[in-house]
Amino acid sequence: PRVGVIVVAAGSGSRLGADAPKAFVGLDGHTMLRHALRGVFDGPTAQVVIVVPRGREGDARTDALEAAGDRRDLVTVVTGGDSRQASVAAGLAALWGDVEVVLVHDAARALTPAAVFARVADAVANGRGAVLPVLPVVDTIKQVDGDAVAAAVDRDVLAAAQTPQGFRRDILDTAYRVADRDYTDDAALVAAAGHQVFTVAGDPLAFKITTPADLERARAVLTPRTT
Ligand code: CTP
Ligand code: MG
Repeated sequence: PRVGVIVVAAGSGSRLGADAPKAFVGLDGHTMLRHALRGVFDGPTAQVVIVVPRGREGDARTDALEAAGDRRDLVTVVTGGDSRQASVAAGLAALWGDVEVVLVHDAARALTPAAVFARVADAVANGRGAVLPVLPVVDTIKQVDGDAVAAAVDRDVLAAAQTPQGFRRDILDTAYRVADRDYTDDAALVAAAGHQVFTVAGDPLAFKITTPADLERARAVLTPRTT
């Protein structure tokens, strides 16, 4: 396929503090990874590279084969690294030769709708070299200096970044090759390599599960209402 999706799921989830690596924590009957893969496989046809902690490769394959349906031949599972960036790099190394557009997605954004994958992939296909989904910032933001407010920040110039973030493959490959430190996301790494990054609309359901409160929120979203 022309598109490759790298799902990074190799983190430990230290802030969540569960007894399994975060992507393998259950939301309902299914793990976070399995939910994340549902959005991926309902999106554009793509090679799907799943990056997992050492020792979890078999569990990931089980989740992937369940989620993939008739796309099971498109699944690749690889072992991740010590940082998110190292895990993405491991995913990049596993992409097939025909892939020209790469989407990088956090398994921790487990409830991301397929439409976001389509939106990001379309923007790259239509000529944007680097694209990320964003949400407007709803809180009033202050710049602070210790406990003092230094300045108000105009909300209109801010946006909250999500994943999947999409890139022309050559741009992402080169940016990873020249990266000289850890960046907070792939868009920042690509921007540091000199590329303009563009935004598309994100989705509230693409929130990242980081803390136990986030996990509760995800489980509540999945619980059918009884009243
Ligand atoms: N990730 C990864 N490899 C790492 C670290 C993180 O693949 N070495 C992935 C996580 O699995 C997650 C995504 O990057 O899907 C975003 O990271 P984060 O939410 O910070 O997850 P963790 O690093 O696992 O959580 P924590 O920082 O609380 O330990
Ligand atoms: Mg982390």
